Amino acid sequence: MRFDIITILPALLESPFAHSILQRAQKKGRVEIVIHNLRDYSTNKQKSVDDYPYGGGSGMVMGIEPFANCINKLKFEREYDEVIFMTPDGETLSQTMANELSGKGNIMILCGHYKGIDQRIRDLFVTREISIGDYVLSGGELPAAVFVDSIVRLLPGVLNNETSALSDSFQGELLDAPIYTRPADWQGHKVPDILLSGNEAAINNWRDEQALERTKLRRPDLLN
Ligand code: ADE
Repeated sequence: MRFDIITILPALLESPFAHSILQRAQKKGRVEIVIHNLRDYSTNKQKSVDDYPYGGGSGMVMGIEPFANCINKLKFEREYDEVIFMTPDGETLSQTMANELSGKGNIMILCGHYKGIDQRIRDLFVTREISIGDYVLSGGELPAAVFVDSIVRLLPGVLNNETSALSDSFQGELLDAPIYTRPADWQGHKVPDILLSGNEAAINNWRDEQALERTKLRRPDLLN
């Protein structure tokens, strides 16, 4: 799988992809993540990518020219399954969406800044608009990193234990049961006895019950 991410702040995206699971996935060749600096596609001397909004109003708007240059160059090199714009007014990212998109080949992601991007970029190039939640961030880079992470960890061979992505909260209908590690007793705070029992069937039962309880309490909407 391949992601091409277009941004005016490539440095913001370096660290999230340079560690842990995302780094390992790239080293193993399961995913290629390529970051493109939008300024490289600006044709004016100042390398600017934004301009004043038509009709007035505050804030600057990212213009169509640099995005079009970059998107067209990438599309000339390969076909894309989706061109995604990260935006708070998009569809909300969900586990179902991550599962679906993990089956795709090439995904392009556009990150916006300032007041937003020229509507024509969205109309002409974007196939899907995705939000990571009902709050506004300063740009699309952090949302893009969240989005890519949610997909890459699902790719075959990325997690050491293939089943561990399947037992994530949201992967079934329920949240995860609580988990513990050593010591069994920390200053009088004990791990539930059942987990020390060695009785696998009883432990699984307990985990199912706990998952259900936690879901009822925290996210009853998931049970409908
Ligand atoms: N850009 C700014 N805020 C965002 C959000 N919540 N989701 C996706 N992209 C964004």
